[in-house]
Amino acid sequence: MDLANQRREYRYANLDLEQANKDPLPQLLSWLDQAQAAQIVDASAMTLSTVDEQGMPSSRTVLLKGIDQKGLVFYTNLASSKAKDISVNNQVCLHFAWLQQDRQVRVQGVANRLSTTQVLHYFLTRPRNSQLSAWASEQSRVLQSREVLIQQYEQMKQKFKDGKIPLPAHWGGYCVTPIRFEFWQGGNDRLHDRLVYRRQSDHAWSIERLAP
Ligand SMILES: Cc1cc2nc3c(=O)[nH]c(=O)nc-3n(C[C@H](O)[C@H](O)[C@H](O)COP(=O)(O)O)c2cc1C
Repeated sequence: MDLANQRREYRYANLDLEQANKDPLPQLLSWLDQAQAAQIVDASAMTLSTVDEQGMPSSRTVLLKGIDQKGLVFYTNLASSKAKDISVNNQVCLHFAWLQQDRQVRVQGVANRLSTTQVLHYFLTRPRNSQLSAWASEQSRVLQSREVLIQQYEQMKQKFKDGKIPLPAHWGGYCVTPIRFEFWQGGNDRLHDRLVYRRQSDHAWSIERLAP
């Protein structure tokens, strides 16, 4: 594979300081809408980066499940590696990449646990098999084999039979309150557009253009 010689032109640069929304949230929502309209697979997938207590970073994909002025919401296992990282340092980075549109968005912020009521509300909307797997999987722990996981899943199926599946205590979600957004749009001749929004107060943001 000749990685060093693989390249393509980026054609869509049109991210203007004057035309961009003064608030990064509607700007992100419009890009999300456009990614969905372009039928990009998992357009709501974002890379979540955390650091552990030694300062070692980790990244993984999670799905954006809610977004409003308070922040960006995702759900996960509260005993997972990412949850452990967040418990020692709740500064995180979220990253969307819509490569077919030559776009990426970086969101830096602070992650806070959602209330049990909010988590339960979402948990009840999940398909039954996803609710069962939330019980069956001790996310990020070592598993002796896939068979063990299947056994745990079958045990949970038996345990709850046809009844309601309660919210596991180890399952929850986070809201990331953003403090900085960066929107990137690829341009001709590598002259890309980069707009950075920095939070000035609850509802006020500064916007600057960065060199690509
Ligand atoms: C497309 C995609 C979507 C995913 N969505 C989630 C999610 O919403 N929540 C989650 O906990 N893990 C999700 N995962 C799995 C995570 O990337 C990761 O493997 C898992 O959360 C364990 O991460 P950790 O050990 O760093 O805590 C997703 C993976 C992919 C590829």
